Amino acid sequence: MNKGIAIYPGSFDPPTNGHLDLIERGAKIFEELVVAILRNSEKSPMFSVAERLEMLRELTANLKTVRIDTFDGLMVEYAKSLEATCILRGIRAISDYEYELQMALMNRKLEPTLETVFMMPADKYSYVSSRLVREVAQAGGPVRGLVPEVVEQKLREKLDPAYKLRDARQIEVLGRRNFAKLEKKGKKKA
Ligand code: PNS
Repeated sequence: MNKGIAIYPGSFDPPTNGHLDLIERGAKIFEELVVAILRNSEKSPMFSVAERLEMLRELTANLKTVRIDTFDGLMVEYAKSLEATCILRGIRAISDYEYELQMALMNRKLEPTLETVFMMPADKYSYVSSRLVREVAQAGGPVRGLVPEVVEQKLREKLDPAYKLRDARQIEVLGRRNFAKLEKKGKKKA
């Protein structure tokens, strides 16, 4: 176990199974892990900071060394205020690397005493991102297995019309298929 506090910063809009996987891995190697949600008024998030805080708290309730918090402004300043020594970030694929490298080097420039530690989530989550989860859910698509159940439930509540619209579309498609089948049968008989 690594001594000291590590920060796992991010937007978590919404938290995914990939995030949770990384939190569990981080909790094993750091004495204390603070999952820090960025309060960014510029973006228009799907979930409010309060909703994300609540979801993450519920999801990590069993992890005694994990704490959920929010921050504003420069992440390194927030990290310093907690006397954290490490920043934890996840890397899924090579495409993440460039952005993460830039951010890690900028953070090092801003605060040389803070180390960024990269961890990889389980490969089954290597394609899962909050952005894609939002996109699928906004179209009423299934997100089971990509996000924890509590998040899936919240997405369904928030996007109820999108899910209803997709159900209606699927019923329409089934209806058309059945009609085509009946028509085919009718032609054969004739
Ligand atoms: O999950 P995300 O959206 O990729 O997380 C990005 C985050 C929140 C870690 C990053 O945008 C951040 O730290 N923002 C705070 C402002 C800051 O310190 N910017 C300089 C980073 S190089």
